[in-house]
Amino acid sequence: MPDNDMTPASNNKEYGVHIPMENSGFFLKGSAHLYWGMKNRLSRIFNPESGRTVMLAFDHGYIMGPTSGLERLDLVVPPLIPYVDCLMGTRGALRTCISPETNKPLVLRCSTGATVLKELSNEIIGVTLEEALAMNAAAVTTQVCIGAEGERETLDNLAYLINEGNRYGVPTLGVTAVGKEMLRDARYLGLACRVIAELGAHFVKTYYCEPGFDTVVAACPVPIVIAGGKKLPELDALKMAYKAIDQGAMGVDMGRNIFAAEDPAAMAQAVGAVVHRFEKPEQAYALYNDLKRNT
Ligand code: 5RP
Repeated sequence: MPDNDMTPASNNKEYGVHIPMENSGFFLKGSAHLYWGMKNRLSRIFNPESGRTVMLAFDHGYIMGPTSGLERLDLVVPPLIPYVDCLMGTRGALRTCISPETNKPLVLRCSTGATVLKELSNEIIGVTLEEALAMNAAAVTTQVCIGAEGERETLDNLAYLINEGNRYGVPTLGVTAVGKEMLRDARYLGLACRVIAELGAHFVKTYYCEPGFDTVVAACPVPIVIAGGKKLPELDALKMAYKAIDQGAMGVDMGRNIFAAEDPAAMAQAVGAVVHRFEKPEQAYALYNDLKRNT
């Protein structure tokens, strides 16, 4: 039932953007009725004190090969681990470049089948839930390409992870991948996030947008974390994180804006200050510069 009257508006009272959703007994939005194991895994990804997370995304190579700033996973990622809450990567990157002694939770990228050289929405699931459990994953993830050629297949991939993950108490992160031909606006992202949540994903990764990010969050009944997207000047990236948190995001799943920063470890800490302590971007940027000077 297509409906042309779908445009979100920040001041539209139907979204109730100032009325938080009731969480009844568990700190995470939309998660009160999950199994104990699911809640336990989510409590490793999201800090129960702040309710938020800084995830470090370094799965870019699965479609892009040696991404700028991430040419040497073994040199770039390990020094950042102490400063983030959670890691998001592929099993190959983890097995080869990340020490199994790390106690940070892992969100395991499970999709494959497409690269930047071809159609990105033409994906399949390449990592089973049994393998994810063998990797001790705290959650599994795949991307959904709403409106793209492979929309149905990518939703099928997400459904597989959710169905299998539900059997083992492993939550699923649904990622909104946005093709070049799509507008990253509140109407599109709101639709994509809601579709992912209604299919049963336990949290959603999307892009910050303005205006109307608050309506994207309000209409999505599970936590949203934002991707960083292309590399921005550090202060701009901190401003984006701040605005996203201010409008209800539960954290970030940031890659390039951390690992490609001039000082990645300082940037990870500055992003953490915004996400967990809701520091103003200018204060977090001052922290970034202090940490940078002292290294
Ligand atoms: C792609 C992903 C990537 O991990 C993520 O979007 C990259 O993070 P960033 O945009 O912050 O570099 O999920 O589907």
